[in-house]
Amino acid sequence: MSHVVAIQDQVEAAVQAALSQVLPAELAGTDPVVRRSDRADYQSNGVLPAAKNLGLPAASVAIDVAKELIESGLPTLGSGPGFLNITVPAPTVWRQVAARLAAKDLGITPTRHGERTVIDYSAPNVAKEMHVGHLRSTIIGDTLARVLTHLGATVVRQNHVGDWGTQFGMLIQFIDEHPEQTWQGEASMSALDALYRAARAEFDKDPDFADRSRARVVALQSGDAATLATWRELVAESEAAFQAVYDRLGILLTLDDADGESRYNADLPGVVDELVARGIAVDSGGALCAFTDGVVGPDGDPVPLIVRKKDGGFGYAATDLATLRLRVDEYRATRILYVVDARQALHFRMVFDVARRAGWLPDNVDATHVPFGTVLGADGKPFKTRDGGTVRLTDLLDQAVARARAELAKKDHDLSPEEFEHIAQAAGIGAVKYADLSNTRTKDYVFDVDRMVALNGNTGVYLQYAHARVRSILRKAADVGIPADRPVDPDLPLHPAERALALTLDELAATLDDVAGTLEPHRLCGYLFGLARAYTEFYEQCPVLRADDDGVRANRLALCELTGRTLATGLDLLGIVAPDRM
Ligand code: ARG
Repeated sequence: MSHVVAIQDQVEAAVQAALSQVLPAELAGTDPVVRRSDRADYQSNGVLPAAKNLGLPAASVAIDVAKELIESGLPTLGSGPGFLNITVPAPTVWRQVAARLAAKDLGITPTRHGERTVIDYSAPNVAKEMHVGHLRSTIIGDTLARVLTHLGATVVRQNHVGDWGTQFGMLIQFIDEHPEQTWQGEASMSALDALYRAARAEFDKDPDFADRSRARVVALQSGDAATLATWRELVAESEAAFQAVYDRLGILLTLDDADGESRYNADLPGVVDELVARGIAVDSGGALCAFTDGVVGPDGDPVPLIVRKKDGGFGYAATDLATLRLRVDEYRATRILYVVDARQALHFRMVFDVARRAGWLPDNVDATHVPFGTVLGADGKPFKTRDGGTVRLTDLLDQAVARARAELAKKDHDLSPEEFEHIAQAAGIGAVKYADLSNTRTKDYVFDVDRMVALNGNTGVYLQYAHARVRSILRKAADVGIPADRPVDPDLPLHPAERALALTLDELAATLDDVAGTLEPHRLCGYLFGLARAYTEFYEQCPVLRADDDGVRANRLALCELTGRTLATGLDLLGIVAPDRM
């Protein structure tokens, strides 16, 4: 058996069947609305609307449905207002634990099989330091890539690196005129970032330099060999620096996933010609622009999507249109996700609208902007360094790892120095990722290193500890010779804390489906946090190694094993390393 049907789904099906026994045919499709509940394991709220439709008292319909459910083996109490409180028999719960343990990958059904999802994420800019905004895109996009892949989708990762544009004319010209300023090698990104700013300053104050820069843009676009060579060097150096960050963060992106803006350069005239031919792009003060119904600025004027500038250059929008067309035609995407800052919402709304009208984005392909909020500093303003510059990602990670190291050092442990360092890295990086992912995606959040490495509370470190504690119990069991393969006995009693833990363990699949649908990773974080707490409750109330019965001990060890695997899977899908000991 490989796919395991969640208990909640089984209950839902049973209520559905019971409803169809009791209700007239035309109401048989009533949604049973089954949820976890405090009063019993599950509550079904479907009777109420059905009874209303029938003009019958809800309580009496509830009693009839409850009878059917009891007959099918699900103890159920109907309540006055028509709710059904359903308790799952203990053997069903134990059997589910055994089934998940025996199944491959915890028995999760690959509900996204057959989908081809392109995920556009990270997308830093060449010759510029990656900043915290790119951090959010990188972390969120990577988690979505992992979750969708886990659910069976074919995921095409796309790093739409900003590697093209008129700014490169300026930068290359400046580099050429200042051979004394070296930038290759270590710290090349900081050096490039500084050069870029120097070039910009010169461009703004010296009109002759500005003219030479413009000539460079022409040289770059017409394929001048020397200019292209410098540009290639810039791109290669930057991509290597980005890759170092991805590797350190444990991000799936590789150089193969980089499809920079330059790749689409040759397609841009064709894209614009087609838009003009279809009457979608029109002349607007010398530029070619497309408009979207209802999109107006504060002054009430329609907002233009500029596909060709007055000076004949193509920009970000034309490139995104060309990119979208390729993703549909060549990558055969059924779903395209753009994990990009919320401030670009209007851009994507217009790009999708124009692409639909141009026939490049068919109705059966879903294109979604997955926006996220801003990372704020302690002062509640966008996160900046003291002198107002962008915060370097690597500094940020160093800081988190240092704090994690200090936090871990406070604990008793018998780890070797290498192990300790490995764990400090995992904890520090995991803390940054978890802090980002556990916040509602669209909200801004305050970057607070002290809070993110806390051992208690909804943090990555807390979950890593929970996982390591489970693994430690399982190691102890093995050390004292308790057999690991004793089957789960479904006929043993089920303690309320065991029940709560087992039912929570059964919800990973539904949680992942939820994340895949809503594209909100914080739902998985919340689930794992709840799971860790259910485990702690269980551990406090139900002795495992010191259980006085071999069978009880084996059942509890099975719960531990399943908890360990579920936490490890969940953390892995968040891209967080789960060490076996901490
Ligand atoms: N490079 C852009 C930036 O830093 C993000 C690109 C996002 N992806 C896209 N297809 N437009 O803002």
